[in-house]
Amino acid sequence: MTDPAKTATLSFDGKSFELPMYSPTAGPDVVDIRKLYADAGVFTYDPGFTSTASCDSTITYIDGGEGVLLHRGYPIDQLASKSHYLEVCYLLLYGELPTAAQLEDFETRVTRHTMIHEQMHNFFRGFRRDAHPMATMVGVVGAMSAFYHDSTDINDPWQREVASIRLIAKMPTIAAMAYKYSIGQPFNYPRNDLDYAANFLHMCFAVPAEKYEVNPILSRAMDRIFILHADHEQNASTSTVRLASSSGANPFACIAAGIACLWGPAHGGANQACLEMLKEIGSVDRIPEYIERAKDKNDPFRLMGFGHRVYKNFDPRAKVMKQSADEVLDLLGVDNNPLLQVAKELERIALQDEYFADKKLFPNVDFYSGIILEAMGFPTSMFTPIFALSRTVGWISQWKEMIGDPQMKIGRPRQLYLGETQRDYVNVEDR
Ligand code: SDX
Repeated sequence: MTDPAKTATLSFDGKSFELPMYSPTAGPDVVDIRKLYADAGVFTYDPGFTSTASCDSTITYIDGGEGVLLHRGYPIDQLASKSHYLEVCYLLLYGELPTAAQLEDFETRVTRHTMIHEQMHNFFRGFRRDAHPMATMVGVVGAMSAFYHDSTDINDPWQREVASIRLIAKMPTIAAMAYKYSIGQPFNYPRNDLDYAANFLHMCFAVPAEKYEVNPILSRAMDRIFILHADHEQNASTSTVRLASSSGANPFACIAAGIACLWGPAHGGANQACLEMLKEIGSVDRIPEYIERAKDKNDPFRLMGFGHRVYKNFDPRAKVMKQSADEVLDLLGVDNNPLLQVAKELERIALQDEYFADKKLFPNVDFYSGIILEAMGFPTSMFTPIFALSRTVGWISQWKEMIGDPQMKIGRPRQLYLGETQRDYVNVEDR
């Protein structure tokens, strides 16, 4: 941590307190309140953490006003067009783009860990066929801590490294197995001759009855979707992983917690909710009705895939995703996809509406992703598992950064208590 750049003064009840301030390499200054309660006897109050920095980090920077997303300084649009997912994984994990030799070694290590313990296959059969694949992923990933005991000691850097590689390598296998189980088809083992994205498509769509050739267009689009979802600063699921990890829990349990949090429709579940919303709207002429519903405070309906806690401009990932949607659907010969037309018209109308302009609501990463994923053959129930698969490297990178910080403390927020003050027990006959 840098030395305090300046101080902030907090004054109340005739007393003043000097709080150190730190300046980042990019973004807003922070006021250090770690000693506030001990010195001033007061808490800060910030439900939803709209103004709170929970940690310092060097991994990802977001400028919400400008619509900028950097991973270790590299802009997301450059990574999406010039890099590939495992190279971005290396960048997020180790801080620099790899040399050719480093990349080859990393890819080999990941490839060699893509199979899961054979006994874990039994876990899938314990679920109902119609279980949501996210339920299966939460269960199976959590159960990894029951199989990989040699990489659960978070104080051993080597075990942290092995757990990181295992999770990045096995998530596509687990997600594909959850999908295959849900449709009653046999599991496919990973193949070491395929790259990460192609391997995932193979595990999802190959069947024993015929040869499956991975379409390179789909494989490239899949890899780009993985890149766009890899990490995103201290979002809800990453914060969940950090908080769970702060107690010293093993990495598999903590990543399972992150998957659970991501499932919510306000977070990673929005990609499924968004496509379901576009299908419900169905045609361009019904858009105004839904725009009005989204603006109606008495209607819980929100435009899924729109708005963001941090971005008050276009989500740069949405821009890349929109371009990719045009390319993939055109190459697949489904460029007149009605859902894409509805999405584009919905975006156009919403961005002209003062409600959305005033509240700075723009399409986010979830707005176009579902259209591509559906065109690739995935059911909506697989959209969030794919988000979870992609974000695992972000969760793991943030986890490693926190666990490796000697200043790490267990996370334990306080509260503004508005309940009853102390009162004596009343026997039931006297109530
Ligand atoms: C992700 O944090 C991350 O980085 C997340 C993520 C990542 O990569 O990890 O980027 C991934 O989760 C993207 C967001 C996906 N969720 C959705 O698309 C669901 C729809 N969006 C909203 O639920 C909402 O925009 C949130 C949850 C994304 C952000 O909510 P905030 O920051 O808490 O904002 P808010 O709910 O306080 O909304 C501010 C105002 C409110 O109106 P007022 O009470 O001020 O009158 O904007 C309105 C909201 O009602 N609003 C919307 C809206 N989103 C916000 N109105 C209609 N439609 C919407 N989508």
